[in-house]
Amino acid sequence: MKDLIISTPCLEDARKKSANQGIIFRDAFQIDNNLSNYLKSKYFYIRTFGCQANVRDSEIMAGMLTMAGMIQTDDYQKAAICIINTCAVRENAVDKMYGEIGTLKSMAKKSDVLAVCGCVCEQPSAVEKIRSTYPHINLIFGTHEVPLLMNYLKQIILDKYKRVISIKSQGGDVFENLPSKRTNPYKAFVNIMYGCNKFCTYCIVPYTRGRERSRLAKDILDECQELIDSGYQEITLLGQNVNAYGKDLKKGGLTFAQLLEEVAKLGIPRLRFTTSHPWDFSKDIIEVIAKYPNIMKSIHLPVQSGNDEILKSMGRRYNSTQYKKLVDEMKKMIPNLTLSTDIIVGFPNETYEQFLDTLKMVDYVQYDSAFTFIYSPRQGTPAAKKNDDVSLQEKHRRFNELVKTCEKYISASSSKMVGHVYDVLVDGPSKNNPNILSGYTESNKIVHFAGDQSLIGKIVKIKIIESHTYSLIGELYNE
Ligand code: 5AD
Ligand code: SF4
Repeated sequence: MKDLIISTPCLEDARKKSANQGIIFRDAFQIDNNLSNYLKSKYFYIRTFGCQANVRDSEIMAGMLTMAGMIQTDDYQKAAICIINTCAVRENAVDKMYGEIGTLKSMAKKSDVLAVCGCVCEQPSAVEKIRSTYPHINLIFGTHEVPLLMNYLKQIILDKYKRVISIKSQGGDVFENLPSKRTNPYKAFVNIMYGCNKFCTYCIVPYTRGRERSRLAKDILDECQELIDSGYQEITLLGQNVNAYGKDLKKGGLTFAQLLEEVAKLGIPRLRFTTSHPWDFSKDIIEVIAKYPNIMKSIHLPVQSGNDEILKSMGRRYNSTQYKKLVDEMKKMIPNLTLSTDIIVGFPNETYEQFLDTLKMVDYVQYDSAFTFIYSPRQGTPAAKKNDDVSLQEKHRRFNELVKTCEKYISASSSKMVGHVYDVLVDGPSKNNPNILSGYTESNKIVHFAGDQSLIGKIVKIKIIESHTYSLIGELYNE
C-alpha cells in the first residue's frame, strides 16, 4: 500500500496569466464496471463550502457517484465515500474545513475514501498541512480534477493505493460529458464560464480556478433547454465574471449580452446571472436586461470599496465615479432595478476616511442587499504581502458600522414592499414551521406565507403584510 502522487499544487503555474487552450471533452462518460459493482448501493456524503461554483462541482460529483449506483446521504456515519469540497476565499471558510476534517476522523476505519477537494487544495501550504496532519484523508484533488473523481476512487478502492494526491494548478479543459445531480428541482445554476482573469489583488480565485474559459453557447443553450423541459422555473448563469463571457472564444462566439438574450428567448420564467464585474458591464448587457421581462431586474454588482485609492490597490479597474455612472445608467434604463453588492472592509492600510467613502457609496447606491467581509489575507496574492497598520479590532468596528449602514437601506427597501403584491417562486416549507412556505421575490428577498405544499416550485402572487430587515411576511393574493 503506497501513495500515488500524480501532481502537487504549484503557485507559479497558477499565477500564469496567459490562457492555455484546452480541449472540450464530449465522449460518453464511463465508469469502470468493477468500480460500479463495488460502489453500488453504498452511500456517499458531500459537504460543500463556498460559492456556487463549488455547489455546481459538488452536483457533478454527486452525478458521477449516483451513476455508479451510489445513494447520497446527509449522515456521514453511513457513508463509504466522504468528500469535503473546500473554499479558500477567506480564512474562516478554511477554518471550517479543518473542523470538518476533524469530524470525519471517526470515519477513518469505516469508510473507503475520505477526500478533500476544491479551492483549498490549490494552496501548497494547505496541502502540506493536510498531508502531514491528517493521515485519515486518503484523497486530495484540486478544482481542475473534479471530472477525474472516479479514476481516483478506482486507484484507492481497486488498485489499493493508500493515498492519492492530484492537483494540476492549471486547467483549460471544458467537460461537456459529465453527469450531474442537481440539489434543487426548480432552480438551477448553469456554468457559462470557468475561472477568472482579473487578479484583483486580494483574491485567491484566479489562482484556484485558473484562467477564463467560456463554454460554447450551443452547449449552454442545450443545457438550459433541458432544464426548461424538465420543469425548472429559474436559471442562474454562473461564472466568476460573467460579463467577460466569450472574450476567450474565437470569432463567431457570442458576447455575454447575446448569450443572455438567447437564453431569455428560450422562455425560462426567471433568469439571473452572477457574478458581474463592473468593468465588463457594457451598455448592450443593460439593454438586454431591460428588454426581457423574464430577466430578473436584480443585479449583483460587487463594489468592494467606495474609495479610489483602495480600489486602485485592489486592482479593480474602475473608480467610484465610474461605478456610480454605471449604477445611474442601469437605474435609468431598468425601472424598478434592485442592486446587491460585495464589500470588503479593512483592506491593508485603509484609513478611516477611506472607509467613510465606502459608507458614502452605500448611501449613494442604497443597495437592496449586501455581502460584507473583513479583509482576509490570502497567501500568494499581492495584497497579502502588504504591511497593514489597521488593527483587527478597528476592522471589526468598521465592519459593524458598515453593516448598520447597509441594514438601514435593506430595511427601508423591505418596508416599502408592505402592501404591494409580488411574484414569489416557492422554494419549500420554511425551516421552522412546515405549514409555512418560503420563497423568493424577483429581488431575492425571502418571503414566508401560509400555503399548501402543492405550491412548491410554482411562482405565486403574494401580498406583503409585514417586513423585517432580512425577511418578509406575506399572504397569498387572489386577483
Ligand atoms: N478577503 C475578504 N473578502 C474577500 N473576497 C474575496 N477575497 C477576499 C479576501 N481576501 C470577497 C469579495 C468577493 C466575494 C466573493 O468575496 O467581496 O466579491
Ligand atoms: Fe476575485 Fe476579482 Fe476575479 Fe472576482 S473579479 S473572482 S474578486 S479576482
